[in-house]
Amino acid sequence: MTSGEPNSRLERSEREYARALRTVAEGTTQSRTPATLIPGVYPTFGARGRGAYVWDVDGNRYVDWILCFGTIVLGHSHPAVNAAAVKEIEAGFALPLTRPVQTELAETLVELIPCAERVLFMKAGSEATSAAVRLARLATGRDKIVRLGYHGWHDWSCARGAGIPAAVRALTFTFVYNDLDSLRAVLEAHRGEVACVIMWPCEIDTPRPGFLEGVKELAHRHGALFVLDEIRTGFRVALGGAQQHFAVEPDLATFGKAMANGFTLSVVAGRADHMRRVRDSWFSSTFNTSSIDQAAALATIGELRRTDAIARIWRTGRRLMDGLDRLAAAYGVEAQAVSLPPTPYLRFTYRDPAAREAAKQIFFTETVRRGVFFHPHHHWFVSAAHGEAELAETLEASGHAFQAVRRAIDGGRTLPAAPAAGTLEGGVR
Ligand SMILES: Cc1ncc(COP(=O)(O)O)c(C=O)c1O
Repeated sequence: MTSGEPNSRLERSEREYARALRTVAEGTTQSRTPATLIPGVYPTFGARGRGAYVWDVDGNRYVDWILCFGTIVLGHSHPAVNAAAVKEIEAGFALPLTRPVQTELAETLVELIPCAERVLFMKAGSEATSAAVRLARLATGRDKIVRLGYHGWHDWSCARGAGIPAAVRALTFTFVYNDLDSLRAVLEAHRGEVACVIMWPCEIDTPRPGFLEGVKELAHRHGALFVLDEIRTGFRVALGGAQQHFAVEPDLATFGKAMANGFTLSVVAGRADHMRRVRDSWFSSTFNTSSIDQAAALATIGELRRTDAIARIWRTGRRLMDGLDRLAAAYGVEAQAVSLPPTPYLRFTYRDPAAREAAKQIFFTETVRRGVFFHPHHHWFVSAAHGEAELAETLEASGHAFQAVRRAIDGGRTLPAAPAAGTLEGGVR
């Protein structure tokens, strides 16, 4: 399939999905699969991935800008990372002893991440953010949390209320990105009770000058820790994360996703005095000593340091954003590429929410049918494997997609309603 020929062959994906629904709780291992957001258009089951591409079980090939929600930074199935993981597997990776690769990785992280004096390894991002919140509670002796963004599925951070005890929900508050007054109001309303302000550095908007510094200053003035959740930005925006890019050092930070190019690793990094408090609580999990992921992370970071991968990711992301803006303008579609170039997103800006949702749905339907895998409701991610060919293919498909949106608007046809599952906690809206 090329970007000129819409794909309609998803029979095997749909068969696999129907089969999985009989035994797997949500049919797929993650509810965020785009197929659940625009049913019948996105493939559900994959066959393989290599570099910037994934293939579904029907044999269709896609330029992948989802990249397993940002875990892939060098490209799928990267040979150097795979080789490091295989070497660790062969050494025996599930020992009742700690493998030295752990300390080598810790030393690398302490060298690269501005706030890191000590690190704590975990597996999932949700575990790292939950550990950071626990450390902030230990450091301050306070219970309440102010958060901004998606930090995972655990009780304290889950945006959906069902199944979460009201007593837990009552401890978490939020504020508005780029609006220090909204944070000031929350902190004053809960004076002396807030353990930390935890936030992602970039939403779909980037921080206004002074915003991140202002959050840190307000948090500290109220005796709370400032925690940056770098799980999307880490090892993609800069080797030292968004804290290095924006020159604002948090007390604690969390990393995951890109750090190990798809392998399962997360980390809390921060000031030694706060990190030392791990001994006052319990942060252990059986699989944390498994060292495959640590070996993969060391290899990933080695490649990021050895090459100009991050600079290329910025350039490719910038060209993708500029290209999308140019095409949207050329076809008279109200849309704008937003966020940082390594984690871009396309925001449709129609005032009427129904038109906005419908334009989105047409755009993302047309692009995926032409072999471009964008997420409709989540930051996209750029990898070092994306280059000229992938950009050209993506922009060609996007041109067709903008044209389809324009035609729908010109035809005055009733734009289709967005599916009910159009929002999700991991999303950027
Ligand atoms: C900023 C941020 N924090 C935390 C998480 C949770 O990480 P995980 O899904 O690995 O538990 C995510 C996942 O998307 C994230 O984007």
